[in-house]
Amino acid sequence: MKADRRIFGLMGWILAVAVLAGAMPALVRGQIGESVGEGVVRFHASNEARDGALPSLCLVTPLAALGPVPGDWAMIPEFTRIQGRTSVFLSIDESTDLYGTGEVPGPLRRNGTRTVAWNFDAYGWGGNAASLYQSHPWVLAVRADGTAFGVLADTPNRCVIDLSLGIRFEADGAPFPVIIIEKDTPQEVVRELGRLTGTMPLPPRWALGYHQCRYSYTPDDRVREIADGFRERDIPCDVIWFDIDYMEEFRCFTVDDWSFPDMRGLNAELHEKGFHTVAIIDPGIKQEMGYHVYDSGDAIDAWVQTAAGAPYVGSVWPGRCVFPDFTMSQVRTWWGGLYGQFLSLGIDGIWNDMNEPAVFNVDAKTMPRNNRHRADPELGGPGTHARFHNVYGMLMARATWEGVQRSRPGKRPFVLSRANHLGGQRWAACWTGDNTASWAHLDYSVSMVLNLGLSGQPLSGPDIGGFVGAGTGEMFARWMGIGAMQPFARGHTGKGNIDKEPWSFGGDVEKTCRLALERRYRLLPYLYSLMREAAETGLPPVRPLFFADTSDPRLRAEDDSFLLGNDLLVACYTKPGQGRPEPVFPAGNWVRVGLVPGDLDDPDLPDLYLREGAVLPLGPIMQWSDERPLDELELLVNPGPDGRAVGRLYEDDGDGYGYRDGAYRVTEFVFDDEMAANVIEGSWEPGSWKLVTRDVSNK
Ligand code: NOJ
Repeated sequence: MKADRRIFGLMGWILAVAVLAGAMPALVRGQIGESVGEGVVRFHASNEARDGALPSLCLVTPLAALGPVPGDWAMIPEFTRIQGRTSVFLSIDESTDLYGTGEVPGPLRRNGTRTVAWNFDAYGWGGNAASLYQSHPWVLAVRADGTAFGVLADTPNRCVIDLSLGIRFEADGAPFPVIIIEKDTPQEVVRELGRLTGTMPLPPRWALGYHQCRYSYTPDDRVREIADGFRERDIPCDVIWFDIDYMEEFRCFTVDDWSFPDMRGLNAELHEKGFHTVAIIDPGIKQEMGYHVYDSGDAIDAWVQTAAGAPYVGSVWPGRCVFPDFTMSQVRTWWGGLYGQFLSLGIDGIWNDMNEPAVFNVDAKTMPRNNRHRADPELGGPGTHARFHNVYGMLMARATWEGVQRSRPGKRPFVLSRANHLGGQRWAACWTGDNTASWAHLDYSVSMVLNLGLSGQPLSGPDIGGFVGAGTGEMFARWMGIGAMQPFARGHTGKGNIDKEPWSFGGDVEKTCRLALERRYRLLPYLYSLMREAAETGLPPVRPLFFADTSDPRLRAEDDSFLLGNDLLVACYTKPGQGRPEPVFPAGNWVRVGLVPGDLDDPDLPDLYLREGAVLPLGPIMQWSDERPLDELELLVNPGPDGRAVGRLYEDDGDGYGYRDGAYRVTEFVFDDEMAANVIEGSWEPGSWKLVTRDVSNK
């Protein structure tokens, strides 16, 4: 680290000489710190920067200053302001490991990487892509002794996160503060991030089932064929998706009645068969008089403006489009209001896409940075697109979530958004955009979901099978095996691409996919319990191996395996033809478990290991998540050296808000020679289960 300090010291001198020589405008250094919570300190570049700070766009509520920086506080950042840019540097020890930075390809451990937080339509992105669709100016740091801190750059502007020498954030625009969280463990830092930027609302249980998508299933009979394909083959599936071709010439909130003459009837049929549906809605609104969305938006002057004050027009799927300015609450209310009628067609969830916002035929692939947003005062008032670009998708998702919630107050909204920002888990789940059907992308998918989870977003997953390109059956089978163990599990593929349903690659691959999804459905009670934990605490369901033992250096960079909750280790094999290399294990006796008949013998499925001392509740195999009540539970037990094992289960009726009034149940299972099931929270009484205990420990 000494060498790093020397380099930064030298850079400081060079800059100072340049300023003195008049070669550069003034350089300002320093920092002002204030305590804003238990183990949470905010630093500004100066008093002026603090007094002039714009409202945060990622925090749940503004943080009031509580007092001075605690006397023993060690992490002091150094601010530099030069030529309209703010740079904040925090030196770290060589043995400190870095994580987070949001939706990024590459390894789990982020030391040495450079990420540019700038929402970007990154079709077919590569492993070196600095910017993808979402921006999370956030780093989690874990020291050798297992203590941890997190650094949040509180700026929506384009922000470089340079982890080559310590932690450096650099952004244009107004000077920004950084918030540093200091805790005893990385888990506590992630929970604190959840307190500051919000946690995901509990999703409806069906959203944890398997989702089937493609660009696009059309016409209606093709949708029926896909749905029946699942049921006829006994492959579990909960959701069928409508991509843009269901619309009438890509006009949002319309349905092409040639291909979908009876959308309401189709949805009713699908519901009857246990499916839910999700439909895509983009932000680009066709500029066309007589189209109800354009007319009603124009009537309230809803559009983002050019620097000259005219509605900005950019080209997307429908041709010339205008874009709602979601920074104004009245625009969000108007937008949210469009969902009432749309959802009455029987659509259950909404997919917001292209909301970086993506614009065709321009080099920047988005709107000009000097476009104008007429933001409300609580967002800091009017400003340029440069300030609001990174939160455009998040504000769109918010408008959607709130609109869906208002239209159906008794149900939990499910929204998926391509673009988003730190804190956006409050309104939307995430998929990792237009990935490629390659082994490298299968590998990235594991670390991406992990780092998204460490950046506040617990509900994410890739396009299973890859969006761009065909791939092979072996790759598809491996991908389904791993994707089925991740929080959001959706198969998807691009227009003109080969079919990528679980049965598209022949009988062997179909068999692996069936086993993979049967495993997921057996795990749903556990996964749902983890989702509840994420909603309550911010801890993601998919966790890095080092969460099991922060003192074990072997686990710090491990991203071929991950933990589902604390109890299940998922060992992923992401290379072609690979056998089963021995995974790295945290301390203790992790026992390999099978969840469904045949899964232990399938070479393409990831291996699953149960933690010593854990009880894992498994539900029955179902074809969709609420096919029948959870009336049977198998409890896998791996007793510790003392013969004991413990596990927990959260249950409620899977949708709606009864759980807020106590209509839920948390059961603790304690195994000590015998199994005891004790309800420890909630008053929900749906009936009892038939319980079967299986000791997997071979003791
Ligand atoms: C881009 C999205 O990333 C992709 O998933 C979708 O299929 C296409 N847009 C078409 O809507």
